Amino acid sequence: MPERERSVSLTAQPLTAAPSGPLSGDAAVPGDKSISHRALIMGALAIGDSEITGLLEGDDVRRTARALEAFGARIARDPDGATWRIRGVGIGGLREPADVLDLGNSGTGARLLMGLVASHPIQAVFTGDQSLRQRPMGRVTAPLEKIGAVAMTRQDGRMPVTIRGTSSPVPIAYASPVASAQVKSAVLLAGLNIRGRTTVIESIPTRDHTELMFRHFGVEVTTEPAPEAGDAALAVTVTGQPEITGRTVTVPADPSSAAFPIVAGLVVPGSSVRLANIGLNPLRTGFLDTLEEMGAHIVVENDRRAAGEPVGDLHVSFGELRGVDVPASQAARMIDEYPVLAVAAAYARGTTRFNGIGELRVKESDRIAAMMKGLVAAGVRAEAGEDWMEIHGTGQPPRGLAEGAPPIETRHDHRIAMAFLTLGLGAENAVTVDDGAMIETSFPGFQAVMRGLGAKIADGRKEP
Ligand code: S3P
Repeated sequence: MPERERSVSLTAQPLTAAPSGPLSGDAAVPGDKSISHRALIMGALAIGDSEITGLLEGDDVRRTARALEAFGARIARDPDGATWRIRGVGIGGLREPADVLDLGNSGTGARLLMGLVASHPIQAVFTGDQSLRQRPMGRVTAPLEKIGAVAMTRQDGRMPVTIRGTSSPVPIAYASPVASAQVKSAVLLAGLNIRGRTTVIESIPTRDHTELMFRHFGVEVTTEPAPEAGDAALAVTVTGQPEITGRTVTVPADPSSAAFPIVAGLVVPGSSVRLANIGLNPLRTGFLDTLEEMGAHIVVENDRRAAGEPVGDLHVSFGELRGVDVPASQAARMIDEYPVLAVAAAYARGTTRFNGIGELRVKESDRIAAMMKGLVAAGVRAEAGEDWMEIHGTGQPPRGLAEGAPPIETRHDHRIAMAFLTLGLGAENAVTVDDGAMIETSFPGFQAVMRGLGAKIADGRKEP
C-alpha cells in the first residue's frame, strides 16, 4: 500500500453548517464501507490477484488494508487511483503479524479480522482508538473460543484483545445472542479455514455482504430458514477450506453515507438531489422505507447488480415529512442510519418513535445519548429510554444552536458529526459540531460533496 495510512487528527476540527438555499445536483458518495472491508479481506485470502474498484478510501478501510498486509497480503493502489490490487495468500496461508494491529475507529475491521485469526495457527493483538477501545468485543471472542481459539481481553471484553488461533479449529453452529453482522461475519470468516460446515443462526437477519462476497469469490455458503430460532430466523452455513482465486470487485456507493445528502435534500426547502450507484441491499435500506413512510419523495431508477449486490440511482426532493413509529424488527436494516433519521424526525410533523435500538449504545459512541443531547441543544423536543427514542417534530425547521451555545459534542463519532451538520442546513440558526475529524473514517470528501450541492458547510465555528 504505497500511500501510508493517515491517522485521524488529534486536534479537534470544529465544523459549522448554516441555513442553506435549495440543494441541487449530483452527490458523488464514496464506496460502501462494509463491502470494502470484505472485498479486501477476501482478496487477501484468495490465491492470485484481485482487483477492486470503488473501494472506500476512508481511514477505517485503510486500517484493514494495513492489517491484511501484516498478515502477508500485497496491496497496491494504481496510480490512476481508481483500482486497488491485492495479491492474496490463500486460505490457511496467513502469516503472524509482527506487531500490534491498530484498527483505529473500525469495529468492523477489528471484529472480522479476529475471526480470520481464530482458525489460523497464529497470534495477533488488536487495538484501536479511544472509541473502539470502549466497545464490547466479548460478542466476537465468545464464539471464537468455541472454535478453539484463545482470547484475552481487558476487563469487560474491551480492547486490546489478543487472539491465539488454533491449528485444529472445530466447526460450530452458533446462535448469536446479538443481531450483529460483525459477529456473524467473524464466525463465517473463521469457518473458511475450518474443515466441515460452520453455521451461524441469527434470529433477526443482518446485512449479508459477507455471504454475497463469499459467493462472488466462489465459496459455498447457504442461507436457510431456522424456524426454531424465530419467525424471521436464518441459518447461514459455510463449507470450509475452499480454494479461492482472485476476482474483480466493483464496490457500490455506501447507502449509509448517502443517507446524509438524502436527508439534507428532504429537509432543505426547494431541494432536488441525485445520487448515482447507491448500494440497495434490502438488509441496508430500512431507512429508505422509513423515510418513504414519513412521506419522503424518493425515486429509485436503474436497478442493477454489481458483484452480487443490488445497486440503483436515487432522486430525492424536498417535501413535508410526518412522524412515524419504527418497530424494533426494522432496527438491523437501518442500524447506522438512526442519527440522520432522528434529524429527519426533527423536521417532521408529529412524533417519531424508534423502538428496539439498544445496540446504538455500543456504536462508535452511545448514539442515543449523543443524539438526545444534541437534539435538545438544537431546540428539538426529544426523549429516550434504554432502547428507544422519541422525537417530537412540529413540522417547522428546528431552531439550531442558540446564540452563544457551545458546539454539539460529536463524541469521536463520524455519524453524529454528519447528522448534526445535516440538521444545520435547514434550521433557523447554524449548527457547529465540536469535531468533524472522524468523518474521514467513512465519508472522505463529505464537506466537498455537500458544498457541491450548495450546502453551507465550512471549517471552524463561524457561519460560512
Ligand atoms: C457492519 C455491521 C453493523 C454496522 C457497522 C458495519 C458490518 O454493526 O453498525 O457499521 O460491516 O458488518 P453490527 O454488526 O455490530 O451491528
